[in-house]
Amino acid sequence: MRAVVFDTFGGPEVMYVADRPVPEPAPGEVLVRVAAAGVNPIDWIAREGVLGTYFGTPPYVLGWDVSGVVHALGDGVTEFRVGDEVFGMPRFPVAGGGYAEFAAIPAAELAIKPVSIDHAHAAGVPLVGLTVLQSFDIADLRPGQRVLIHAAAGGVGSTAVQIAKARGAYVVGTASEANHAYLRELGADEVIDYTAVAFEDAIGGMDLVLDVRGADYAMRSLRTLKPGGLLFSLVSGVTPDVAAAASAAGVRTGGTAVRPDGAGMRALALRIDGGDLRTHLDHLLPLEQVVEAHTIGKSGHVRGKIVLAVSL
Ligand SMILES: NC(=O)c1ccc[n+]([C@@H]2O[C@H](COP(=O)([O-])OP(=O)(O)OC[C@H]3O[C@@H](n4cnc5c(N)ncnc54)[C@H](OP(=O)(O)O)[C@@H]3O)[C@@H](O)[C@H]2O)c1
Repeated sequence: MRAVVFDTFGGPEVMYVADRPVPEPAPGEVLVRVAAAGVNPIDWIAREGVLGTYFGTPPYVLGWDVSGVVHALGDGVTEFRVGDEVFGMPRFPVAGGGYAEFAAIPAAELAIKPVSIDHAHAAGVPLVGLTVLQSFDIADLRPGQRVLIHAAAGGVGSTAVQIAKARGAYVVGTASEANHAYLRELGADEVIDYTAVAFEDAIGGMDLVLDVRGADYAMRSLRTLKPGGLLFSLVSGVTPDVAAAASAAGVRTGGTAVRPDGAGMRALALRIDGGDLRTHLDHLLPLEQVVEAHTIGKSGHVRGKIVLAVSL
């Protein structure tokens, strides 16, 4: 099968397409013929070796967002049949294997793909979708609460805006002006142009801030929270100085790392087919253009998602 591999940590050029054996599904696993694979910032963080061998030791196959067709079943799998269209986020945080024609995936981490979207769009959902569901569950986001979503036009942000709206929240997002109409279409109540104003001067009284930026955004976001509000960081934003400042200001801090979840995937499929959640594809590129996909992604201004076409 064709697979994107890399032998050493490094820049995007270390990735190349190679011929590799089709994996065997272990008991409890499903062999998926991958139609499309989503691209996420964690892919280049892993490939660069920023966190050492935390995600695996090269060579291995990247890719935690998969949409495809069940090709074979491992022993004991009863919940899927050959030919089912499925999507999921395999194995995170160890190597997912999605950038390949076939991936062996634990059945418990998959769900039937939403019927209302194609594989390319479905491949843009799992990692960001599970991240947002799990974050809002931990943060206990409730109807009527005010939530500030940073990088609202990105993969996590676009999903967070829609799910926060569907949960009845008042949603404010940060984005450059070119993305404001897009965010209003997704349901954002207010949009702040972070290039023109300091967001902490433009908004206040928030119950929750979803921070995917970290660095100065974490400290600055504290000022936007009302007493008892929560800064929820998806990056390493809650440093000791931020935690101390939060405590002094009477606000809370938290965060999470996404985990695979078949039930969460089923919940996302329901939201998509119910019309609550859609994916904007900024770029759909062939697997062979994975270097370009990472280069575009790392530039930091993708609207929605980048997806690799594997066997579309
Ligand atoms: N903890 C977890 O489990 C978890 C899960 C998923 C993701 N993450 C992390 O979350 C981060 C975001 O992921 P993602 O997939 O959403 O990234 P992404 O799609 O690459 O984000 C791109 C977006 O960032 C916006 N942006 C860039 N600079 C900005 C700024 N200074 N202020 C506000 N918006 C800005 C851009 O909007 P403009 O073009 O308008 O600037 C663009 O739409 C990554 O670091 C990722 O690793 C963590």
